[in-house]
Amino acid sequence: MLNKSIKNDFPVLVNNPDLCYLDSGATSLKIKAVIDKMKEYYEYYGVNIHRGVYQLSHQATTEYEETRDVVARFINAKPEEIIYTKGTTNALNMVASILSKTLSSGDEIIVSELEHHSSVLPWQHIAAEKGLMLRYVDLTVDGRITLENFKATISPKTKVVAITYVSNVMGYITPLKEIIQEAHKVGAVVIVDAAQAAPHIKIDVKDLDCDFLAFSAHKMLGPTGFGILYGKMRILDYLDPYEYGGDMNDDVCLFEATYRDVPYKYEAGTMPIAEAIAFKEAIKYIEKIKIDKIHEHEKALIAYAMPKLLAIKGVEVYNPTTDTGIIAFNIKGVHPHDAATLFDQNNVALRAGHHCAQLITKWLGVSGTLRASFYLYNTIEDVDRFLEAVKATVSFFERIG
Ligand SMILES: Cc1ncc(COP(=O)(O)O)c(C=O)c1O
Repeated sequence: MLNKSIKNDFPVLVNNPDLCYLDSGATSLKIKAVIDKMKEYYEYYGVNIHRGVYQLSHQATTEYEETRDVVARFINAKPEEIIYTKGTTNALNMVASILSKTLSSGDEIIVSELEHHSSVLPWQHIAAEKGLMLRYVDLTVDGRITLENFKATISPKTKVVAITYVSNVMGYITPLKEIIQEAHKVGAVVIVDAAQAAPHIKIDVKDLDCDFLAFSAHKMLGPTGFGILYGKMRILDYLDPYEYGGDMNDDVCLFEATYRDVPYKYEAGTMPIAEAIAFKEAIKYIEKIKIDKIHEHEKALIAYAMPKLLAIKGVEVYNPTTDTGIIAFNIKGVHPHDAATLFDQNNVALRAGHHCAQLITKWLGVSGTLRASFYLYNTIEDVDRFLEAVKATVSFFERIG
């Protein structure tokens, strides 16, 4: 298990010593080093990047570009394959949009019911517009994506696979490497939603051989409004830009223009500079602790919590075999929002609802769930507080009938 002193690195936890924060799936808390780095940018060299021919602009540009190297190292990519975005949603919409021009009527797109809305809605929209067929991988009785079910869905018509690496409701890890191998056999492009993977498990894009992969800084100790799109160079090079504007062009004439090389042709306009600069501090922190240790820590918390949670009468758990730090559950007969209010009274912050993944809550046959999501700063004491809050909530609703 990781050392409890980790909590001291998170100002929100220091300033709210009684808080039991179990909503890291929505957003993680931020380390002080990230907050300090943003402040440093604004206070010491807070100017625009790439454009200025003066010292401060060089300094801002160097700090900004350093993050690209750190992110590339973190996921085993080349720096030029790292595109800065506003976050996973922006990145997944960007890929869908730039790829859509290569698709035509009758082409098939594979998605799953485990997808977050940002991984499936862009494709629903493009499918309706271009006459594409959206196909869903059957889930197992537990709600998992398997290679076998994927193989039953793929066909020579499959052109794109848009799939989650870790489900934000069930916490399952998708067997991606094998799925990607199958997808490539028919020449399909694979887009990975790694929003819930990058903060918790080792990602190696070369080993996975995925074509695109997206994640958000704010779910992994970094700033909001910033994220990463990894893409294979030969595809990025071939596709058209997503947005057109400043800093992405080379030569602009009256009726045409040429564009900068990847990644800059995909980074139009002034980007979230402070956020980009500060994000490297989050990754360096995760690298120092080691991502495998973080995953082990979460699994240890779940191993302690799960049998105790399952033993509480009146609780329904939807993912008792979760692979990460996410537990989806309900108090039987109680709306998750009502239950979450009771948790809040015990200063236990967790999420209630459909988690922007309505397809899976519908698949589970419920309108929503409670979701406790654990991260590196959570402790056994947090689990105990969570279990006490579950018991208190169950008995409150039993009392009022
Ligand atoms: C699996 C998954 N994909 C995508 C997203 C969207 O991330 P963002 O809101 O940072 O764009 C989330 C956020 O909850 C998520 O959990």
